[in-house]
Amino acid sequence: MSALRILLVENIHEVAKERLVSEGFKVDLISHAPSEEELLKLLPNYDVLGIRSKTEITKKVLQNNKHLIAIGCFCIGTNQVDLVSAREEGVPVFNAPHSNTRSVAELVIAEMISLSRQLGDRNTKAHVGEWVKSAVGAHEVRGKTLGIVGYGHIGSQVSILAESMGLKVVFYDVVKKLPLGNAVSMPSLSELLKISDFVTLHVPETPETKDLMGKEQFAAMKPGSHLINASRGTVVVIDELVAALKSKHVAGCAIDVFPEEPASNKDKFQSPLQGLSNVILTPHIGGSTEEAQFAIGIEVAESFRRYLKIGSTSGAVNFPNVDLPVKQGTSRLLNVHRNEPGVLGEINGLISRAGANIEGQYLSTDERIGYLVMDLHSSKAQGLAEEIGKLNRSIRTRVVY
Ligand code: NAI
Repeated sequence: MSALRILLVENIHEVAKERLVSEGFKVDLISHAPSEEELLKLLPNYDVLGIRSKTEITKKVLQNNKHLIAIGCFCIGTNQVDLVSAREEGVPVFNAPHSNTRSVAELVIAEMISLSRQLGDRNTKAHVGEWVKSAVGAHEVRGKTLGIVGYGHIGSQVSILAESMGLKVVFYDVVKKLPLGNAVSMPSLSELLKISDFVTLHVPETPETKDLMGKEQFAAMKPGSHLINASRGTVVVIDELVAALKSKHVAGCAIDVFPEEPASNKDKFQSPLQGLSNVILTPHIGGSTEEAQFAIGIEVAESFRRYLKIGSTSGAVNFPNVDLPVKQGTSRLLNVHRNEPGVLGEINGLISRAGANIEGQYLSTDERIGYLVMDLHSSKAQGLAEEIGKLNRSIRTRVVY
C-alpha cells in the first residue's frame, strides 16, 4: 500500500507533521487558509486534510473529493466544516476539544489576582506617569471564596489551582459532579453568587446559558465581588454588567469573550466595557498559548493515526464512535454505508462467497450512516474491499492493514 498523503494548512504546529511523518505518512504544509476554489484544485492530490478555524469545508468540496478519508480541525470549533455533508460522504471530522483547558484555567487565576490588586488600572496609570501607591482596595486572594459556574474540564482545573493558593472553592453545575479537593457543590447559582468573592464562568454556549448572568444575577452577587468570563460572550448581558460596575456593586471584571467579536485582528473592537475602572478586557485569548497549539498538534495527529491505521473514530464529532484493539494475524476492512435495511446482508454475502473467514465484526450506526469494522482471516481483503466498495449503498471502503 502506498503512503497516505496528508495536507496541513493554516500554519498547523510543526509537531503534527513530525508525528505523522514518523508514522510513515506523506505530509505537505501550507501556511494560509485555502479558498474553496483552491481546495478543489489541491485536494485531488491528498487523502487527508488538516485545517484550523479559517478554512471552510463546504458540501461542494466534499462532494468533489470522494476519495477524502478524514478531516482534522486543529482547533476546538468545527463549525467551519459542513459536518452533515462530511458524515454523508463518510468522512469523520476530528478536533482537539481539551488541549487548551489548562491555558484557560491559568488565565483565570492570573485575572483573579489582577482584579484583587487592580493590576490593570495601576499598570495603565504607571505607563502614563501616574504613581498610585496605595493599599486601599487591594487584597490577597488567600482565604477568599471562588465560585465556579460550570464544573467541567476548565472549571475543575481552576478549582485545583485556586485551592492550592488557599482559596475556598464552591461550584454550581447542572450535572452532578464529583467535587475535587475541598470544593463544595452549591444547590443553585444564586446560592453561589451570594457567597463568592470571585465568580468565574465555564459553561458551554447553549440556549440555556444565554444571558445566564443578567440583572437579577448581578444583584445577587456579593457586594464588592468580581466576575470573570472566559467561556462564551452570550453568557453575560453586557449592559447589565456595565450597570453593576458603575454602581460599584461589582468591583471589577475580566472578560475574554464577547457577544460580538471582531472577525480578525484587522477589525476594530468595541465594547461598552471599555474605559471602566478595574475592567480587564482580553481578545479571546483564554486558550491561545503555544503550549495549547503544541498539544492540539499532538491530539489531532494522534486521532489521524488511530483512524488511518486501525479505524478508530473515537473523538470524531460527526461519526459513530468506534474504538477496537488491533487483532493480530487478520486484515481490517472498514466500510461506511448508508444506514438502510439489508446492507449488512449484502456485505456478508460477498464475504462468504469469497470464502473469507470473519474473525470479528463491529457495526455502529446513527440515523444516516453505518460504520462497519471487520477483521478478516484472508489474503483477499483488498479484492473484497473493491467489491464491497461497488455496492450501491457503500460510501467509503478501505483496508487499513
Ligand atoms: P465542559 O463541557 O468540559 O464543561 C462545561 C460544564 O458546564 C459542564 O460540566 C456542564 O454540565 C456545565 N453546564 C452546562 N450548562 C450549565 C448551566 N446552565 N449552569 C451550570 N453549569 C452548566 O467545557 P469546558 O471545556 O470546560 O469549556 C467551558 C467553556 O469555555 C466553553 O464555553 C468553551 O467554549 C469555553 N472556552 C473558551 C476558551 C477561550 O479561549 N476563552 C478556550 C476553550 C474553551
